Amino acid sequence: MKILVTGGLGFIGSHVVVELQNQGFEVIIIDNLSNSSEDVLVGIESITRKRPVFKNIDLRDKTSVLSFFKEYNDIDGVIHFAASKAVGESVENPLLYYENNLNTLVYLLQELQKKGNGSFIFSSSCTVYGQADDMPITESAPVKPAESPYGNTKQIGEEIIRDTCKVSKDIKAIALRYFNPIGAHESVKIGELPIGIPQNLIPYITQTAIGLREQLSVFGDDYPTHDGTCIRDYIHVVDLAKAHVVALKRLIENKNKSNYEVFNIGTGTGSSVLDVIKGFEKVSDQKLNYKIVSRREGDVISAFADTAKANTELGWTAKSTLEEALKSAWDWEQKIRS
Ligand code: WQD
Repeated sequence: MKILVTGGLGFIGSHVVVELQNQGFEVIIIDNLSNSSEDVLVGIESITRKRPVFKNIDLRDKTSVLSFFKEYNDIDGVIHFAASKAVGESVENPLLYYENNLNTLVYLLQELQKKGNGSFIFSSSCTVYGQADDMPITESAPVKPAESPYGNTKQIGEEIIRDTCKVSKDIKAIALRYFNPIGAHESVKIGELPIGIPQNLIPYITQTAIGLREQLSVFGDDYPTHDGTCIRDYIHVVDLAKAHVVALKRLIENKNKSNYEVFNIGTGTGSSVLDVIKGFEKVSDQKLNYKIVSRREGDVISAFADTAKANTELGWTAKSTLEEALKSAWDWEQKIRS
């Protein structure tokens, strides 16, 4: 079985490539290296002993997409990660996000329509829920107006896929709504490589702990939560990666109940920023230098998953604890700075 993984050299994509290869799939990666490097290929191969085919293609270039599918006309499935994902950047440059996250999706789906079949896994996000009314969040929670162009591209992306699947019954798709992916592969051969100042909590914590950053700023401790800081569902990236393989197999083996399905992928446990800091101090056996500052625009108070649907219908459950995921992130940070 031949699987195309777009954005396969990225943080989540690379971990999914490893899991796919571990399960015997042949993997072709498309990546434009805008947020990754070919070194990740070496990391993947050092884990699986198999080097995936890599094509340096920018999916915004429709001609390149067409010629790729002409050359690889026997793709059995597509897992689509390639997209821009920085919330703040999307506010500054919305058209970059609408072009890069949506035009590319349309070109891929057009190729599957031409082929007349295809299993398609879409990288979506809990961002589509905005501030959900009830916790934990189920897949039937209403999609709320996006807080950023990034979040909007995830919402519109899901609608594009849903509408396509309505008319193209031979295309089967699953949107996986990720909560907060963290950590790194146990081999410390692949992990998160944020470019510049990390926007996300865990890489900022590990870079502070290793001395790259002076101090972590905690964005607000006056929220209506147990300790005043925001709550999120932090899931180990390998657990998240395994969910992609299970979802892909569901489609390939025709076990899907409809040709467009949505699943929340999280641990089902909410952790506050201070919970994460305490957990990190425990696993790293060092105090973290942080200060409380004002709230960050656009942050939701709380978001953690109701995972019952993925548990029962995918037969998938996250295995790693928060501390195990934090330890893997810390091991990775120490490795890349050594
Ligand atoms: C988590 C918590 C911050 C940094 C985003 C995207 C989401 C997905 C994951 C792509 C919040 C606090 C953070 C810092 C802090 N990305 N924080 N100091 O915002 O939940 O989700 O990344 O798919 O779509 O929206 O993750 O890690 O940025 O923040 O206090 O230096 O940590 O306020 O409460 P977020 P995050």
